[in-house]
Amino acid sequence: MSDGTMRGQVLLLLLVLSLGSALGQVSYSIPEEMPRGSLVGNMAKDFGLDVKRLKSGKARIFTPDSEEYIELNNERGVLLIKNRIDREALCGQTTPCALHFQIILDNPMEFYSVTIEITDVNDNPPSFEKNEVRFKISESAASGAKFILDRAIDPDVGSNGLQTYKLEPRNNFIIKLHDQADGTKNVEMVLEKPLDREKHEQLSLVLTAVDGGEPQMTGTMQILITVLDANDNAPVFTQPVYKASIKENSPIGTVVIRVAASDADDGNNGKITYSISSISDNARGVFEMNDESGEIGLKGNIDYEKARTFQINVRASDDGGLVDSCKVMIDVTDMNDNEPDIYIMSKSNVISENAKPGTVVTMINIKDADSGENGKVHCTLNNNIPFVMKSTNNDFYSLVTDSELDREMTSEYNITVMCSDEGVPSLSSSVTLTLQISDVNDNAPVFERSSYEAYIVENNTPGLSIFTVKARDADWNQNARVSYILEDSSVNGVPVSSYVSVSADSGVIQAMRSFDYEQIKHFHFSVKAQDGGSPPLSSNVTVTILIQDQNDNPPQVLYPVQTGGSVVGEMVPRSADVGYLVSKVVAVDVDSGQNAWLSYKLQKATDRALFEVGLQNGEIRTIRQVTDKDPVNQKLTVIVEDNGQPSRSATVVVNVAVADSFSEVMSEFTDFKQDKEYNDNLTFYLVLALAVVSFLFITCLVVIISVKIYRWRQSRVLYHSNLPVIPYYPPRYSDTLGGTGTLQHVYNYEVCRTTDSRKSDCKFGRAGSQNVLIMDPSSTGTMQRIQSEKNILDEPDSPLEVRMF
Ligand SMILES: *[C@@H]1O[C@H](CO)[C@@H](O)[C@H](O)[C@H]1NC(C)=O
Ligand SMILES: *[C@@H]1O[C@H](CO)[C@@H](O)[C@H](O)[C@H]1NC(C)=O
Repeated sequence: MSDGTMRGQVLLLLLVLSLGSALGQVSYSIPEEMPRGSLVGNMAKDFGLDVKRLKSGKARIFTPDSEEYIELNNERGVLLIKNRIDREALCGQTTPCALHFQIILDNPMEFYSVTIEITDVNDNPPSFEKNEVRFKISESAASGAKFILDRAIDPDVGSNGLQTYKLEPRNNFIIKLHDQADGTKNVEMVLEKPLDREKHEQLSLVLTAVDGGEPQMTGTMQILITVLDANDNAPVFTQPVYKASIKENSPIGTVVIRVAASDADDGNNGKITYSISSISDNARGVFEMNDESGEIGLKGNIDYEKARTFQINVRASDDGGLVDSCKVMIDVTDMNDNEPDIYIMSKSNVISENAKPGTVVTMINIKDADSGENGKVHCTLNNNIPFVMKSTNNDFYSLVTDSELDREMTSEYNITVMCSDEGVPSLSSSVTLTLQISDVNDNAPVFERSSYEAYIVENNTPGLSIFTVKARDADWNQNARVSYILEDSSVNGVPVSSYVSVSADSGVIQAMRSFDYEQIKHFHFSVKAQDGGSPPLSSNVTVTILIQDQNDNPPQVLYPVQTGGSVVGEMVPRSADVGYLVSKVVAVDVDSGQNAWLSYKLQKATDRALFEVGLQNGEIRTIRQVTDKDPVNQKLTVIVEDNGQPSRSATVVVNVAVADSFSEVMSEFTDFKQDKEYNDNLTFYLVLALAVVSFLFITCLVVIISVKIYRWRQSRVLYHSNLPVIPYYPPRYSDTLGGTGTLQHVYNYEVCRTTDSRKSDCKFGRAGSQNVLIMDPSSTGTMQRIQSEKNILDEPDSPLEVRMF
């Protein structure tokens, strides 16, 4: 504060003149805190006193207490500041504040009163008792909550005194002042905007108290607020939806996913417990929740084929009961744990061998419960079978034939369908189907040989089995059942069926008659083998029968002719030389080969020493000179033998006359005549006997043939159409060799059945059965069949007997 100002501030000069003890009163007003020596007022002048008077009067200040602040300068007659004046110290809050003192003069004694008013200067800032104050306020405190603050104190008065407060920052609180009766103000801090511990756990505010001086002075106090937690925050999941995937068949205990929620609150208000709030039906019992860690673990088995996704709603709650929830979507990933399933939709167990390629045999449906690669299935068939798999669409396959089938090659197939998926590792399964190939009559019977040749010795028994033809048929059952049929043809104008028969079942070829080599040396015919298919297939074979010669014909002498009556003679002159050719026996043999190779021997002779017969040529020659003693009649018996086994022979008698003339011969004639008569008689009886026998025989033959033909016609009506053609043969058979007139063999035969072999109770079998039954043990099947068809024989196991006569 400058002097000039102070002087300017001598505002009030109050002069009160009063007679008595007080001659005058003067008042000054000064601000406090003026420095020492500052002029307060010119007392001398104000009181109208001369400086000399002051001196002489020894002017001095009288005051019980306030001289310390003011001094009197007698030289100049002014009042000066002696000590700094602090209004606040002097008066406190009292206003106005003034110093009262007197100036006393001596000589004469007089006094003057001086009042000095001390005006306030803003020399004190407002101040708080404490620098800081601490509050703990719950964040849940409601708006309008009030907190009392300490007041600030400003010793200055008036406008220099405390005027107002400010609170910074103003985010949450405002200041409210309440005037008190004593003029002071109560300070309240009012919560205007709720606190949030989670945003600001500590608040620091500054309360500023402001006075009204010039310049303004302030005082501050720090307000530290600790925001206490309230459970005002719910837990919050980090994601609203969690996605996880898990492989099927994962072991129990596998952690699927961990969910996490956070709670901004503190302590228990922020302690989160997890739980499953709701779960899809298929997930029930499969998952479990760790309530502390938020881990979802596996409690049951997971099968992709049953459930592919699970949804779990998870709740997080804090201790205060606030919750949040989230969704957990769990996808199951497929593992290759299912093998393909093969379903047979329909199948044929049997297929005909003539099925066209491409015939569907089986339809198959294939399923694999896995998905993706694990569910992709490929099927294969076993090798080397004429079948292929065709896929009609993804899961359906048909098994079709790939080529022609042949039951005769393979009659059954085991078709193995093997299906495997594409998983790693791959799973597979298989099924085996057995397919039978049914027969079709596609094979003709085949004879074992391309042609047959058989030998039979002549004079055989009719019904003799010559040999057997055999044909095989590769087909099956009825299609392979071969019947043998004699093809119609003729041999020498006679149906071949009268020569041979063929057993329809067994293929046994039997002679139907006795063959005569001299009549027929060979013949051939055709046998058809026919199977039982429909239509039947057949094939032919040519059979050649060669008849072998038997020595059944004796040699026949052609020369000399042996006639009954006439005597044939040869003449040998007595002069004949040795080796004279007398005659030649000429013979033939209708047999052939060895059987016809003839040799000639002299059997009997009147004189053995005279003749010999050429062994080979039959020439009769003399072997010595004829003498006179030799008788005229020489009788030679020559035997002609063939070379057969046994050999047959014929004899011839040759009469030789040894004479020089015919008359000589005639003289001997009588001998011949006797012989001749005897021979004539014998010839007559023989011819008679032969005629009678022949007549009886022919009669008998005619009767029997008539009866048989009649019966055969009747049986033809009954016997019709059964498969193997059983040829008809005459039941009785006789053969005479005509031509040469030698009746060598006559065979008559009948089949006889006896229930008792001792009783030769012989019945004639009927036509058609007997020839087939004869002699062949292998034909019993035929026999039985014929028996059953014809019911001829009562007791099938009775012995058969062949009687020949
Ligand atoms: C087919 O399988 C059956 C049974 O395993 C067997 O008896 C038969 O011999 C097999 N057939 C073929 C042609 O392999
Ligand atoms: C069988 O032979 C006959 C004539 O002998 C002939 O007509 C027929 O075609 C032949 N059949 C077969 C299958 O060879």
